[in-house]
Amino acid sequence: MQENPVRKQRILSGIQPTGTPTLGNYIGAMRNWKLLEDEYDCLYMIADLHTITVRQDPAKFRQNAMQMLGLLLASGLNPDKSVLFFQSHVPQHAQLGWLLDCFTYMGEMNRMTQFKDKSAKHADNINCGLFTYPVLMAGDILLYQANLVPVGRDQTQHLEICRDIAMRVNGIYGHVFTIPEGYYSKVGARVMSLQDPTRKMSKSEAEDSFISVLDTPDVIRRKYRRAVTDSDACIRFDPENKPGVSNLLSIICALTGGDMDQLVASFEGKGYGELKAAVTDVTVETLAPIQAEFARVMKDKAYMESVYRAGAQRAGALAERTLQKFMKKIGYVQK
Ligand code: TRP
Repeated sequence: MQENPVRKQRILSGIQPTGTPTLGNYIGAMRNWKLLEDEYDCLYMIADLHTITVRQDPAKFRQNAMQMLGLLLASGLNPDKSVLFFQSHVPQHAQLGWLLDCFTYMGEMNRMTQFKDKSAKHADNINCGLFTYPVLMAGDILLYQANLVPVGRDQTQHLEICRDIAMRVNGIYGHVFTIPEGYYSKVGARVMSLQDPTRKMSKSEAEDSFISVLDTPDVIRRKYRRAVTDSDACIRFDPENKPGVSNLLSIICALTGGDMDQLVASFEGKGYGELKAAVTDVTVETLAPIQAEFARVMKDKAYMESVYRAGAQRAGALAERTLQKFMKKIGYVQK
């Protein structure tokens, strides 16, 4: 089959609704999604099926899911361009997940480092969903014949297994799935914990160690003021020897799009207090308009509903095509 030269490359990505995202999630994922909207044909999914691999409180879960949709809209995604949807509203994800389970080996899943980490963390609930999580994720991507998948480096292993499964299926049946590739943002500032800057910023750590995208200016100021630096009172970018200072510098660069050397030069003769004031200012300036738009959109329930319903319909139509193609190849009686 000839490729239509005007068809844009397709992008699929997902984010779990596990609570208010951190500044790290914003810089690493949410904000990049918007930058891809014009150049690519984008589908962005709230990965709520993945979320129940860890037990959720129903009311809180529902609230987190709506909040994530509100934040994606507030961070500038245009639902007329990108398809925005809840994974659970497109049943083909669960269906393809099952089919792909039967093309995936236990040994492959056993090697997944995230499964090992998560089962250590949730030793009382090592469920089968946690084990097959990467297969569900592979289905998410393959359902839409995605060419590119913007993800963080922590998802590389999941993407590899997705490619392996897709190639295995294609090897058996002929072409079924597009083989996807990871898309790693160039401005890939990895935002680190404010309390232990050798570790990634994470909302599952202590409050003071991360900035939440909904933090007020006062809270942001307080958290940066308490951020761990070092005792040599010199502002330079050196993640190895000065992880705390370097983290604050790279947050500024990521949020302003500025050049690191110029930034460091602008701090010559200045102290950590000034660095912390600067990172506070750019963070507040970035988040304030998002927070205002978030407050506005969350009140407009009818609009939110129209966005996720239209998204599910558009995504569902694409997903059904792939699912039927695969089922026919496997040998199922056509409905
Ligand atoms: N596993 C991803 C994460 O935790 C979320 C996710 C689910 C995803 N399905 C996806 C990401 C498909 C990209 C593509 O970050």
